[in-house]
Amino acid sequence: MMRTRPLKVALLGCGVVGSEVARIMTTHADDLTARIGAPVELAGVAVRRPSKVREGIDPALITTDATALLKRGDIDVVVEVIGGIEPARTLITTAFENGASVVSANKALLAQDGAALHAAAEQHGLDLYYEAAVAGAIPLVRPMRESLAGDKINRVMGIVNGTTNFILDKMDSTGAGYQEALDEATALGYAEADPTADVEGYDAAAKAAILAGIAFHTRVRLDDVYREGMTEVSASDFASAKRMGCTIKLLAILERAADGESVTARVHPAMIPLTHPLASVREAYNAVFVEAEAAGRLMFYGPGAGGSPTASAVLGDLVAVCRNKLAEATGPGESAYTQLPVSPMGEVVTRYHISLDVADKPGVLAQVATTFAEHGVSIDTVRQQGRQDGGGTEASLVVVTHRAPDAALSGTVEALRKLDTVRGVASIMRVEGE
Ligand code: HSE
Repeated sequence: MMRTRPLKVALLGCGVVGSEVARIMTTHADDLTARIGAPVELAGVAVRRPSKVREGIDPALITTDATALLKRGDIDVVVEVIGGIEPARTLITTAFENGASVVSANKALLAQDGAALHAAAEQHGLDLYYEAAVAGAIPLVRPMRESLAGDKINRVMGIVNGTTNFILDKMDSTGAGYQEALDEATALGYAEADPTADVEGYDAAAKAAILAGIAFHTRVRLDDVYREGMTEVSASDFASAKRMGCTIKLLAILERAADGESVTARVHPAMIPLTHPLASVREAYNAVFVEAEAAGRLMFYGPGAGGSPTASAVLGDLVAVCRNKLAEATGPGESAYTQLPVSPMGEVVTRYHISLDVADKPGVLAQVATTFAEHGVSIDTVRQQGRQDGGGTEASLVVVTHRAPDAALSGTVEALRKLDTVRGVASIMRVEGE
């Protein structure tokens, strides 16, 4: 049965994503009506700059008073694509108080205040959907929340930031340094004028917090995620990675402890073997590798940013939420029943690749090896090369360790720095995906 009274949608924000959402709602109106079982009508668009020309949007729908739009009393669904914490948080709360379900692309807000927003949705018997908050167009939140709801996810490892993947891919393929690759990303519109959120890993950490909560049915907040950016990754790190048959990616890694009693969540650059599926993710693409007990290994791949891809995810949520409204039902809410603690980074078990500049004289290798042993870290491989620039008295020493707690590895590096024979620590990088 087709309902003729339309479902009314309020759009909060009309930038790159919002304008695409509005355009697709208009151009695909008949298909959306058929798929939902009722027409969807854009009832209002809240913006900051009303004078800006917005092609394809009736100027009568534009308002600067988002609160008044939400309090009209006839809005069924609110699409929030403003981003940031405020005013988005207050507006989403107002939407729930006024009977509207919410579709949001706001990773920062969900990572910080997801629990409170989910509680508000549940209290009012409404939906909060957020597929677009993680990895743009890639269907990931819904597969993890719904398709894998009967399985047990033990590990998630992914590239969830397109800007940094573009920069690292350029460094890998051209030998460019970080700044040169960043400049190219900025010129091509991949990096924002202030790239801090991307290059320092904040964007990826917010996505990691959201994914960890879904994967492990627990609450993981942004502050629980260990974060290292990729601004220190150098051309010589890539040269070392190549010698090991690896490349370097900024990874979000979420793991359930072997005893199942805790989880870890981290974002940092890491070397991964060229044979790993994530190594072949090029340019600004995202990809997420999910390991579940029964399903095995699943890979989700696609465009993780941009107006149209993100709008695709928003529209998918909009259709789902509208269907729920018509059925007078709600979809899955927050599932945080396991309440697992998030362990600190020091307890994460990983491998290190450490490149040292050392004095090239008898006993140095033994001294370095002893330092690893004293911290309980087992060495996997060592490669030493004498250097001409040191007049034959210096050497580069590259050590790759076996798996060990991160605290033991960083303690080892601290002790190495104090040795007279270690002239410098040229690079330290974790090795993953083996
Ligand atoms: N700036 C992000 C990225 C997209 O580069 O992937 C939005 O999260």
